[in-house]
Amino acid sequence: MQLVDQFLRKINYLRVSVTDRCDLRCVYCMKEKMNFLPKNEVLSLEEIERLCDNFIELGVEKIRLTGGEPLVRKDVLTLIKNLNKKKSTTNLKEITLTTNGSLLKKYAKDLKQNGINRINVSLDTIIEEKYKEITRFGKLANVIEGIEEAIKHNIKVKINTVVFKNFNEDQTKELINWCNNKLIDLTFIEVMPMSDTDMPRHMQFVSLDKIYNNLENIFNFEKSSHKTGGPSQYYTSSKLNIKVGFITPLSNNFCASCNRVRISSTGKLYMCLGQNEFVDFREILRTDRGDDYIKEKIRFALSVKPKRHDFIINPEVKPYINRHMNETGG
Ligand code: 5AD
Ligand code: SF4
Repeated sequence: MQLVDQFLRKINYLRVSVTDRCDLRCVYCMKEKMNFLPKNEVLSLEEIERLCDNFIELGVEKIRLTGGEPLVRKDVLTLIKNLNKKKSTTNLKEITLTTNGSLLKKYAKDLKQNGINRINVSLDTIIEEKYKEITRFGKLANVIEGIEEAIKHNIKVKINTVVFKNFNEDQTKELINWCNNKLIDLTFIEVMPMSDTDMPRHMQFVSLDKIYNNLENIFNFEKSSHKTGGPSQYYTSSKLNIKVGFITPLSNNFCASCNRVRISSTGKLYMCLGQNEFVDFREILRTDRGDDYIKEKIRFALSVKPKRHDFIINPEVKPYINRHMNETGG
């Protein structure tokens, strides 16, 4: 069984937001004052698992758990444990995690024991005061200790860095060198206009074209064919032992090769991160509907998966996406 969408893109990758909550408030992700969802609106573990089962039966091979911050959900390890068991009996091949790393020190060992071999850690700066500034109150040491613990337990870490105007655009070389010392791959990401934050998006956005060109002069990049299932274009350099990736939703559209869909913590299936359409599975899961109906709805959702996002960052244009990143995760 292989799911394809209306443009014949093969969909084998599901991202699941297990909570909208987070222990940080990154300025490009959230407003300082956010209202989080009451628990009964968020899918239970059983509901998440049932949705995952249906997607796996339809050909999904890779599941990424995300948030908010997935590790703030108390029962997330149970979900990981249960999903991990499916790897030996279904076509599910990999479970990964996107985390801000603040709780990683505590969880790294359990994650590894439950089959997590690869994680993405969000880290935008390696300067303590700046880390506090961008996350509003995070502690850099927690993340670094978390990363070290994950590496100690043989989890492959990749860093995700959102490049934010007048904040870290001048630190990209230092970040690469820092990651190179630790042998961790690094991906730079452009700010996306996911709903309103406390600062207008055009004051946050930096095109990675410019950053790439500056770094290319230093590192003489070579384009790599390496793929991890996501949209990152990777580069190698004879001066580095790591890969450096660029995720460029605005400066260089990659939707033609999209292979993924996302479930929000409330059970809405978003077929595209950059569009507002969704199919709501929560009511289906909470009424007496069978799995055949769920699969029919999944196929329907893919038959209307948008061709591409229409992200635009322009002082004249209000963000068109009406949800923050913590609803669907990265
Ligand atoms: N644009 C780009 N990246 C974002 N993230 C959160 N909000 C945004 C945004 N508006 C990033 C986080 C994390 C991943 C889940 O998405 O830093 O790395
Ligand atoms: Fe939390 Fe990630 Fe959003 Fe930062 S980007 S507030 S770590 S969900």
